[in-house]
Amino acid sequence: MKGSVLITSASSGLGLAMAQEFARRGYHLALAARRIDALEQLQAQLSQDFPRQTFICKALDVCDWPSVAPVIKHCAEALGGLDIVIANAGIATGHAVGSGHLADDVQVIQTNVVGAMATIDAALALFRTQNRGQLVAISSVAAKRGMPGFGAYGASKAALATYMEAVNAEVFGTQIKTTTLFPGYIDTPLNNHIRNRPFVIDVERGARALVDLIEQQVTESTVPVYPWNLISVALKWAPRSVIAKQHRPKS
Ligand SMILES: NC(=O)c1ccc[n+]([C@@H]2O[C@H](COP(=O)([O-])OP(=O)(O)OC[C@H]3O[C@@H](n4cnc5c(N)ncnc54)[C@H](OP(=O)(O)O)[C@@H]3O)[C@@H](O)[C@H]2O)c1
Repeated sequence: MKGSVLITSASSGLGLAMAQEFARRGYHLALAARRIDALEQLQAQLSQDFPRQTFICKALDVCDWPSVAPVIKHCAEALGGLDIVIANAGIATGHAVGSGHLADDVQVIQTNVVGAMATIDAALALFRTQNRGQLVAISSVAAKRGMPGFGAYGASKAALATYMEAVNAEVFGTQIKTTTLFPGYIDTPLNNHIRNRPFVIDVERGARALVDLIEQQVTESTVPVYPWNLISVALKWAPRSVIAKQHRPKS
């Protein structure tokens, strides 16, 4: 039997698909998100399909950051420790800076940065007591270059990636590993309203790619690796005039 994995935001999209993929590969799972009904449905389905494994779920709003550590502690106690914790919860907005959407942008930072930090902080404290564990953060290719219309989202994912770089240095030489993943477009409710999604892949394929990279314990990778590894480099060096043309915010 494999180890145990906690996934924040297993009620939809990548979190849900990764939960199904980890279950297929024999892991025990702790599922956390705000929509407890969706988690209970997933828990029931996984318990039926994989009766030898343990699946638990717990309501969690990562924006209520003081509640994150107690939830992670509860899940670790229920599963006899945690091997992998995935800070996956995230939201996105798309509009120009200065267009009257600051409250939405603040919510992006609260969820994608403060919520992820609370998850990583609590998981690392637990892993220090266990002397082992793997921290996984779901950043985005959007972290690689500030794109017009996605300032808050890109900034949140860049902040998360930099935070993980610091954590990686702090645990260097120990049995605690860090993995930061930078997905390109994977078809989920987060982006399925966007008309132009280059190289989009379905969520099952995306989840397989994510779980493969997590099992390989890579420190950082785009997802899928190709073509997003090349696009990331191109994004970094593309002239501003090219970047400015990628998206025309409404206001
Ligand atoms: N799909 C892509 O192409 C793509 C690309 C790059 C990065 N990502 C990142 O991958 C992660 C998952 O995104 P997705 O595509 O799976 O989006 P999604 O289908 O919209 O799922 C978002 C998840 O986040 C959870 N969530 C939102 N706010 C939360 C909060 N305050 N506390 C706890 N959970 C919260 C939601 O669960 P509840 O509503 O039940 O709480 C939901 O399960 C995000 O961090 C996203 O930025 C996705």
